[in-house]
Amino acid sequence: MVIYALGMKKIIRVWDLPIRLFHWLLALGIVVSFITVKMGGNAMELHARAGYCVLTLIIFRIFWGFIGSRYARFTNFVPSPKSLFAYCSGKSRAGLGHNPLGALSVLALIISVGLQAGTGLFANDDIAFEGPFAKYVSNDAVELLTSIHHLNEKVLIILIALHLCAILYYQKFKGENLIKPMLLGDKEIDPSEEAKYLPADLSQASKDGGLQRGLALLLFSLIAVILGYLITN
Ligand code: HEM
Ligand code: HEM
Repeated sequence: MVIYALGMKKIIRVWDLPIRLFHWLLALGIVVSFITVKMGGNAMELHARAGYCVLTLIIFRIFWGFIGSRYARFTNFVPSPKSLFAYCSGKSRAGLGHNPLGALSVLALIISVGLQAGTGLFANDDIAFEGPFAKYVSNDAVELLTSIHHLNEKVLIILIALHLCAILYYQKFKGENLIKPMLLGDKEIDPSEEAKYLPADLSQASKDGGLQRGLALLLFSLIAVILGYLITN
């Protein structure tokens, strides 16, 4: 549904509630993971828990990329080389979701975060703590996956820094506030700016009703239960 506000600004739902919750819980989980690992000792238990939450969120996000609302879908934002080139040379009109360049950083973040949480399950700190799946694989494998967990830490930090810089850049130099839509869900399009956007996008919002939210909750719970079962057994 597309709503017209006073002054005929178009108000369009872009990020559904599941995406927004995913995003802020993901950021929270990662911050908690980094803080607890620096504390070490008993906090490693919390490090692992925060990591399980992050892994659940990432698996959810991957499914949501296929069955979620319009702008959550990979088919909506994963760019072809052609569209990426067109965007970089300023020849394409903007979409409402992730832009082609931003989409690459979204994918890199999802992969790197997933890799971090996934390798954590097999990691070992050589003292008192190991991930719940370490017991199923050889010592060599544990060592390899632990070193990936360490290496990818740097990659993840760089990606997050780029992510924040990009958002700051849009705010400062393009006058575009991306944070508000990620908090509240809607983008407001001024009539004078409509020509900048794809007509197909301006007439279609993301579905974000009770049905979609219920489906997301069901999916998330299912992933959490299955993962929880695998981790505790
Ligand atoms: C969001 C997900 C995660 C992030 C961002 C993360 C991040 C980190 C970081 C930054 C370190 C420190 C590496 C270093 O000392 O340089 C670390 C170590 C470790 N993490 Fe994670 N981790 C995540 C998930 C997990 C999970 C799910 C587990 C296990 C259940 C886990 C188990 C470990 C272990 C055992 C170490 C110690 C490795 C060592 O000190 O040699 N991590 N993690
Ligand atoms: C650990 C920290 C963070 C991680 C791992 C992260 C990751 C992500 C991911 C994966 C997306 C894509 C959303 C999706 O389609 O699923 C995203 C989008 C976004 N994030 Fe973050 N984020 C982090 C922190 C932040 C912070 C602190 C802010 C705000 C200051 C922020 C603002 C945004 C915004 C505005 C978008 C939407 C960008 C767009 O319009 O294309 N993120 N983030």
